[in-house]
Amino acid sequence: MTDKEAILARHAVRNYTGKTIEPEKVSLIRRKIEELNSEGGLNLQLIEDAGKTYNKLMNMAMGLGSAPSVIACVGKDAPDLDERVGYYGEKLVLFLQQIGLNTCWAGTFNRKNIGAEVADGERLVISIALGYGKDSGRERKSKTPDQVTEGRADRPEWFEEGIRMALLAPTAINQQKFVIRLNDDDTVDFIDKGGIYSKVDLGIVKCHFEIGSGIKINV
Ligand SMILES: Cc1cc2nc3c(=O)[nH]c(=O)nc-3n(C[C@H](O)[C@H](O)[C@H](O)COP(=O)(O)O)c2cc1C
Repeated sequence: MTDKEAILARHAVRNYTGKTIEPEKVSLIRRKIEELNSEGGLNLQLIEDAGKTYNKLMNMAMGLGSAPSVIACVGKDAPDLDERVGYYGEKLVLFLQQIGLNTCWAGTFNRKNIGAEVADGERLVISIALGYGKDSGRERKSKTPDQVTEGRADRPEWFEEGIRMALLAPTAINQQKFVIRLNDDDTVDFIDKGGIYSKVDLGIVKCHFEIGSGIKINV
């Protein structure tokens, strides 16, 4: 499964079977996390037993309480930490999709129960629930390309494909509060329109745009 295929197949999944992740897959995930942590200067952590991470009423109501495992997204505190978590966390989400797992980014979770190691100077930004979904989720509403683009009207194919993949990016409460501007010199700007977890969203959007357009994006 290519990265693009993973983007097309991925949906937020909130209901999981009781099946735990096999040890061979756990090793693959740990190796991938090591690679992403070193690239992104992060401390993402796989917590195999999600325990009571999702025992909040909202999580239980949405089904996330059934997630067997969780990724704690931690990193040294910095102004760009949230965006890096989004970018590298989504790379991990797409990798998990490729090895047959389902995920859901979750800003609502029990920070005391997750069991993450957060050193002095580090911050726990968000969680990602993972496991075998009862189903693979479903398509949701999306903004149109025109609603999230600015700049030059004659859009090249690489830009259109970047936007198509960006519109499939998960965002908090499906807010899609981002704009991608195509400048006259073919450079691209990403604009954060604000909202809850919008910096994490923007990192996720950059990851998707990069895969769609084939253009390396600075994060
Ligand atoms: C930063 C972020 C935070 C999120 N927080 C939650 C959450 O707390 N609870 C939840 O059920 N879903 C949460 N989601 C999942 C979104 O609701 C979901 O990704 C969005 O509705 C789009 O659907 P899709 O992932 O199927 O494309 C979050 C997603 C993102 C990107």
